[in-house]
Amino acid sequence: MTVYAFHTDAEGLYSETNDNTNPRLNATIWTDARGRYELRTIRPAPYPGGGIPAHIHYRISGSDFPDQGFELHFEGDPHLSARTKDRSAKRGRFGSIRPLERGEDGVWHCVFDMKLRR
Ligand SMILES: [Fe+2]
Repeated sequence: MTVYAFHTDAEGLYSETNDNTNPRLNATIWTDARGRYELRTIRPAPYPGGGIPAHIHYRISGSDFPDQGFELHFEGDPHLSARTKDRSAKRGRFGSIRPLERGEDGVWHCVFDMKLRR
């Protein structure tokens, strides 16, 4: 499967013109046979002006499932709405809000498992 991920930069912008159809920070990742992937990147900032939590967009394609998109949010983000928190909680470990854990190497890690719909 193919995982296409993109997000804003440290200023909350997708590009110099803030065009989210042509984001500067993006990656295409091929999963392994078990559907695992790894994305190494920076933590995105929320959009300028606030109100929307920081997030990473994911588009999954290339399997027997229809193409579909997901958003990753970060636990503790002050912009998370009660609705987003509720929806995430109902999805358990497949929820959109995931914790960040700092490794011994000082790098923040986050596990984001996506459950594909048929
Ligand atoms: Fe976005």
